[in-house]
Amino acid sequence: MNTEMNWNSVCWKSPSNIALVKYWGKYGQQLPRNASISFTLDKSYSQTTIFFRKRQSDQLLLDFQLKGQSNEAFQLRIAKYLDRIVETLPALNDLELRIETENTFPHSAGIASSASGFSAIALGLCSIAEKYEPLPREFFQTASCLARLGSGSAARSVYGGAVLWGETNWYQQTANEYAIPVNTEIHPVFASYRDSILIVSDGIKAVSSTIGHSLMHEHDFEHARFAQADQNLKKLQMALQTGNQTEFVQIVENEALSLHAMMMTSKPWFLLMKPETLEIIHRISYYRERKKIPIAFTLDAGPNIHLLYPESAETEIHAFIHEELESFCYQKQVIHDKVGAGPKVFDLS
Ligand code: PMV
Repeated sequence: MNTEMNWNSVCWKSPSNIALVKYWGKYGQQLPRNASISFTLDKSYSQTTIFFRKRQSDQLLLDFQLKGQSNEAFQLRIAKYLDRIVETLPALNDLELRIETENTFPHSAGIASSASGFSAIALGLCSIAEKYEPLPREFFQTASCLARLGSGSAARSVYGGAVLWGETNWYQQTANEYAIPVNTEIHPVFASYRDSILIVSDGIKAVSSTIGHSLMHEHDFEHARFAQADQNLKKLQMALQTGNQTEFVQIVENEALSLHAMMMTSKPWFLLMKPETLEIIHRISYYRERKKIPIAFTLDAGPNIHLLYPESAETEIHAFIHEELESFCYQKQVIHDKVGAGPKVFDLS
């Protein structure tokens, strides 16, 4: 490694995740008001290369490019983020960084691009920092803490499969600072679960999740919501362990609609679902009744639907999407994803 003049680089591919029990409401330094659990995805990921070298001068400490284009808004967000994390990784103080990132899915579409984006950056920065000094905690734990500081849900993307973030009595060794993988407690049917993402709109979100989280303070249902999330987590743990898909469907849909109910009853209120979102939800519910196949919808902070179902139903569900749902999607866009194995590193140096 020539750290004097030449650029070295690390590259991480890190996936997005879909929350089953939702994180909505935070305190302190991006700490969650309730514990959440998610499936890490496979095909929806960010690929981020960070070039680094010893600082040559006081100038140009950071350059950020999204899909090969400089982006001032992101550059500013990343610069602020780096200011926050040098405390944890002081080696970064002596470096110049060039960050190049690409997503495999539309940005700001309610697919958590911030989860994949910040987890990829955090993993990259940990890979770089550990070349100079020991990390304060185990590698992925450090990365999860740092990803969290960029975007809460990003804390969960540093692991594959099912991932839990936040303190709860229902699992062991949980923490608000970082996420933990919980795959040993998952029935095999869920390990290969499918997630078809129905893109109702690929526009920028009307209300950022930062504002949404803050509206949980003094929300009329604040305490009821955090108690509900904890109970749902307890029930989901059992469903995930035993492979009870009927229970899984009920909890996951209850969480999705509760999240959006919180948005609709915030002061001020906001509503991210579109008419097409509701049409798709009705059709999913009717299809489930008719076919007795355990399919579940869920939503993040946006209008798009994540349709979760077992691998064994893939052919039928793809046909259902094609025949009945696709026409309600923006330009018929559907991303067929599944539960994935988590981030991957490519060390280029
Ligand atoms: O990570 P943030 O701050 O963008 O919050 C995302 C919150 C939800 O996606 C709505 C739920 C979750 O747990 O991922």
